[in-house]
Amino acid sequence: MNQHRESWGSKFGFIIAAAGSAVGLGNIWKFPYITGENGGGLFVLIYLVCIAVVGIPIMMAEIVIGRSTQKSPVGAFTVLTGKKSSWKIVGWMGVFVGFIILSYYSVVAGWALNYTFMSLTNFFSGKSPEEIGSVFGLLYTSSGINIFWHAIFMLMTIGVVLGGVKGGIERWNKILMPALIVIFVILAIMSVFLSGWREAVDFVFLPHIDRLKASGVLEALGHAFFTLSLGMGAMLTYGSYLQKDTDIVKSSIWISVLDTLVALLACMVMFPIIFTYGFSPEAGPGLVFKTLPIIFSQIGTGGMFISFIFFVLLVFAALSSAVSLLEVVTSYFIDEKSWTRHKATLITGGIIFLFGIPSALSGAGTLFPQWESMYGKNFFDTFDYLASNWMLPLGGLFISIYVGWVMDPKLRQSEYLTGSAITNTWYYEAWLIFLKFVAPVSVILIILQRVGLLDIDRLLGAIF
Ligand code: PHE
Repeated sequence: MNQHRESWGSKFGFIIAAAGSAVGLGNIWKFPYITGENGGGLFVLIYLVCIAVVGIPIMMAEIVIGRSTQKSPVGAFTVLTGKKSSWKIVGWMGVFVGFIILSYYSVVAGWALNYTFMSLTNFFSGKSPEEIGSVFGLLYTSSGINIFWHAIFMLMTIGVVLGGVKGGIERWNKILMPALIVIFVILAIMSVFLSGWREAVDFVFLPHIDRLKASGVLEALGHAFFTLSLGMGAMLTYGSYLQKDTDIVKSSIWISVLDTLVALLACMVMFPIIFTYGFSPEAGPGLVFKTLPIIFSQIGTGGMFISFIFFVLLVFAALSSAVSLLEVVTSYFIDEKSWTRHKATLITGGIIFLFGIPSALSGAGTLFPQWESMYGKNFFDTFDYLASNWMLPLGGLFISIYVGWVMDPKLRQSEYLTGSAITNTWYYEAWLIFLKFVAPVSVILIILQRVGLLDIDRLLGAIF
């Protein structure tokens, strides 16, 4: 094992840190708004299926690679397949995607920082729901404020990665993750009393075939990868800090269940507000910031405090995910280029900050004003789309093919079962089937649909 390679303090520490990577803006910011854009119920159902049949098996595969090699993605494929092997490209792709995702992720986390700050100034007091909602538009189109908070968030991320993973991230996650869940449960209970609650339950849980667009299926799959931090080696890297006594099967299931729970809770907090106040579920990236302050404003004096706590937790949820993104990029330079952690973190973090600037300016349109008319989406949305809908599923496809078809079967089986209480190899066989067939076939089908070689709409129409 490399000297600088830390390991987690405990099995629980790993689960909580990996859950910290998984639970982030993807659950609270992104999932509700893409659910809204894709018509609700059926999208949620497809997403859940993707988590179960594609996400969980690939998470196990990533952790198997990471723990068996004790290396970050590029190094892991070098150990397993040799120095000249093209499998290393999968590792490089992961580093590249981590770079891209963090660049715009930090901008959104910056919005959360901004709302934390605004909570302190009690910005919503005396305002109508419409006025509160419109504050987001102001933020979105303000260049300077976006860059300012993006810079602060990148500095926080760099700070944590500089300090290492175990003492910082593991310890903080143990406090913050439970706090996040508790506050969400409280908010979800409050939402039950809103008049739009029934409509929200209907929207989120009842599958309406006519409301889903075909593109939604790819988006659900892409989001399953994004939300579980899969397809770019984050779980692989976290798995590389693991000792052999951890149960990979149980941990992966726990991480995924926690992640899904937070995503569904987020919907059950936000959609009742949306339907009660007549907002559009298709409000896009501003959804969480437009809706939640409304419920906070109605609590009265305690509202400001709850709002502050909520956005602080949102920042921390984002931070624990951002750290895993930066860790993948940084650990490449530490492991493969022998840079010090200090140098690797500062340089990669700095470049990612710079690359995030056009995303921070996307709303204002001050940089690349023609981008949207040229490519159909603004700079921010373009990279979010490319990373989560294409790069992560492709990365996941390669990882499932590698572990399912190429990896030494003996090593694979012993790594999967080591540390696990499972004595029955039935689980292992089932996992292999998912990894060899179900996961790669699903990703390939959905990609064929995207490039126009297949019509899933007609296929789904025939089934339902
Ligand atoms: N899973 C994180 C979220 O839901 C984002 C993320 C993606 C983190 C990929 C690491 C790797 O917010």
